Amino acid sequence: MHVISLAGSPRQPSRSSVLLRRSEQWLQQRGVTITAYNLHDFDADDLLYANFNSPQIKALAAELARADGLLIATPVYKAAYSGALKTLLDLLPERALDHKVVLPLATGGSIAHMLAVDYALKPVLAALKAQEVLHGVFADDSQIEMKAQPQPTLVPALALRLEEALESFYQALDRRTPVRTSQLQHIA
Ligand SMILES: Cc1cc2nc3c(=O)[nH]c(=O)nc-3n(C[C@H](O)[C@H](O)[C@H](O)COP(=O)(O)O)c2cc1C
Repeated sequence: MHVISLAGSPRQPSRSSVLLRRSEQWLQQRGVTITAYNLHDFDADDLLYANFNSPQIKALAAELARADGLLIATPVYKAAYSGALKTLLDLLPERALDHKVVLPLATGGSIAHMLAVDYALKPVLAALKAQEVLHGVFADDSQIEMKAQPQPTLVPALALRLEEALESFYQALDRRTPVRTSQLQHIA
């Protein structure tokens, strides 16, 4: 199984990326191959000026076409997901998530916006034709201790929710509709 991870925070260090790194480790321990991307892998001008010919965007689209699933993480910005992430998603082909299972992860300053993934990000993932978008994981900032050593820690309740979501993701990857070779050729 092959999964793309995409960190949607423009900032580093990043709490939402902590959830992503934890998830990657969990999946790698179960034999899943991860290809990790973050917004800094892309030219800011390409994102801002919608350069559909960006080599990095094309490389991501090609990797996605071959992958089984997507882990996508974002901070909540102004009651939605990050605008920088949107500039990237806008450049993906229309069916970029066809046949993919997607697990969204989000962090926010307060639980007031814990549904931002549901009402803002999920419609975009559906527009990209994701086969299955799982119930995501939201954490508020107090649940991730960034200064812990040697690495940031999650409060136990969050760690448990994340593990449950990853179990579901892993099972969904296992049962997903396999992409046909002819479709891969069409996308490439
Ligand atoms: C520009 C900006 C806007 C934000 N807007 C919200 C918001 O509307 N609701 C919320 O709960 N948190 C908001 N926050 C807090 C972030 O979502 C929160 O700190 C998040 O964990 C940051 O994730 P990151 O470290 O991965 O960037 C905002 C933060 C910034 C910088």
